[in-house]
Amino acid sequence: MNGYRCIACSVTQSVDFDGFLCPCCGGNLDVSYDYAEVANRIDGGLPKGPPDLFRFAPLLPLKQPRSAFPLRVGGTPLYPAQRLGELAGMPRLYLKDDSLNPSASLKDRASAVAIGRALDTGAQVVSVASTGNAGASLACLAAATGLAAVVFVPASAPLAKLTQMLAFGARVLAVRGNYDDAYDLCLAASDEFGWFNRSTGYNAFTREGKKTCAYEIWQDLGGLVPDRVVVSTGDGNTLSAIWKGWCDLKAVGLIERLPKIDCVQSEASAAICNTVRQLRAGDALKVDWSTLQVQQVSASTVADSISVDRPRDGLAAVKAVIQSGGEAVTVADAEILAAIPEMARASGVFPEPAAAAPWAGVKQMLRQEQISADELVVCIVSGSGLKDVANTRSVLAEPQLIEPSLSAVRDCQQHW
Ligand SMILES: Cc1ncc(COP(=O)(O)O)c(C=O)c1O
Ligand SMILES: [Zn+2]
Repeated sequence: MNGYRCIACSVTQSVDFDGFLCPCCGGNLDVSYDYAEVANRIDGGLPKGPPDLFRFAPLLPLKQPRSAFPLRVGGTPLYPAQRLGELAGMPRLYLKDDSLNPSASLKDRASAVAIGRALDTGAQVVSVASTGNAGASLACLAAATGLAAVVFVPASAPLAKLTQMLAFGARVLAVRGNYDDAYDLCLAASDEFGWFNRSTGYNAFTREGKKTCAYEIWQDLGGLVPDRVVVSTGDGNTLSAIWKGWCDLKAVGLIERLPKIDCVQSEASAAICNTVRQLRAGDALKVDWSTLQVQQVSASTVADSISVDRPRDGLAAVKAVIQSGGEAVTVADAEILAAIPEMARASGVFPEPAAAAPWAGVKQMLRQEQISADELVVCIVSGSGLKDVANTRSVLAEPQLIEPSLSAVRDCQQHW
């Protein structure tokens, strides 16, 4: 790591900068590296094991190596999902199952590197605003490392996510309001009490953790670059991180071309997609990023993890979609919910609603002829289906209630 660059105005800060946002314009920062030096250190390949994200230390912004991190974060499987793909005539579909992280979502990548930074800087208390997963994740990894965690969530967050936070011993502040209210309160409280704030967008280190998802995909594809990586999007941090991961690989000379990154949002929470479409309707190549505003919406999707009025890393995500040539895809909530049992039944991977959105998005892109069926496509499964069973139950049949007798089973079986 050799400093920071502002996503909006491009002004750089030195590696010793100890703030979070750009002092010139208030924009989000991006961690920068001396890629020539990294290329020398890795000498033609990324480190291979042990199977967690800290093996990518040369491309992580941490002072102390975290080889002794108590939980395994990252190193999740990339599954060929042939039967699922065939439902849409796509033989080269893959699922990157990031629900297999310690707290069952991709957010653990962000929390692990943010906690690494908190430890590097001597912080004792870490805080976060969350729709649910980031809070569950921070609570989990803080428990594993012995830090105290304070989590701000909307009071309506799904029960499983709240239960995780409480079980891991975080101080959970359920805010009477939405995610955006929780976010603003977390900022103010962290400032007031000196907590290390891991909130998405505000904290540049979350992107550094999440980008490792791209490195792993590349390694697991045996050095192939997919045509597309499809990402469920709320704040936009995950998407911008996955784009950064591929850009890093190119910057250190490991790959020559970059994949397209497709942004999938619910129609009921589509701030980033709306902005990409507006730019594409004009001249996207001439955009002045320092003045671009992502217009806020009034979000109401059932996919709680991506229900965001004001994306906190929206500019970085819009840039990533435009620069990569990816699509901005909006899907109906009914399509997101229908994608859950479809994925579960044809792949054995059970996603939460937000994590099913990429598959709903792929089908939408096929219908609209934005992609062709022979492309190599990776959908990111960003969170486990066990995190929000209530919404999924609404699209499933009830179990058959029977007497404990063989004849009752026979009666049922005749109707299957
Ligand atoms: C399961 C899941 N998928 C996707 C996202 C979207 O990530 P981002 O808000 O960075 O766009 C989140 C964020 O909370 C999430 O929890
Ligand atoms: Zn700036």
